Amino acid sequence: MFDTMTITKILGGLCGALLFFLLGSWLASGLYSMGGGHGEGDQAAYVIETEESGSTEAAVVEGLSVEELMASADIAKGAKVFAKCKACHKLEDGANATGPYLYGVVGRAVDTAVGYSYSGALEAVVDVWTPENLFHFLENPKGFAPGTKMGFSGLKKPEDRANVIAYLDSLDN
Ligand code: HEC
Repeated sequence: MFDTMTITKILGGLCGALLFFLLGSWLASGLYSMGGGHGEGDQAAYVIETEESGSTEAAVVEGLSVEELMASADIAKGAKVFAKCKACHKLEDGANATGPYLYGVVGRAVDTAVGYSYSGALEAVVDVWTPENLFHFLENPKGFAPGTKMGFSGLKKPEDRANVIAYLDSLDN
């Protein structure tokens, strides 16, 4: 049944397929390393997130956990960062303004400043303002809690966020 010709054809076909396969995967890996080589893709993501700071340094900071950033946070610098929040937030207990008072906000249940009328967008996302939740909220309030009425574009630098959280936390012991 199988004459030499048939066997030759089958072998030829297999070799061809193999060659095609090898060539294909070689091309694919070439393309892959062009896009992902040296972690360029990753780095670009970091640059977008942290605009102003140098990209290498920013990538290192991004790699730190919130706890690590909080551990090295600077309360005095946080007080300066808070200047950006002052237009809408007061620190005295019970003093609502455009935004709710931030006295004791670290560890406070979300949307519970007495007498403040919230949008409800925040409590749809989180329950308690842990440093970690604040850290992510303050980076991009509207991205974190779509529909929030906090009209603030966010603090892009992780250090700024850690510092202002440490400052807020220091006010109520
Ligand atoms: C333009 C005004 C504005 C600025 C600036 C602003 N906020 Fe707000 N903030 C608001 C408003 C309004 C809300 C209520 C949001 C809602 O109900 O959706 C809010 C809510 C919050 C909450 C939630 C409080 C709670 O009781 O659940 C926190 C925390 C907060 N802001 C922190 C900050 C910090 C820190 C800054 C500065 C880095 C800041 N905000 C800057 C207007 C502002």
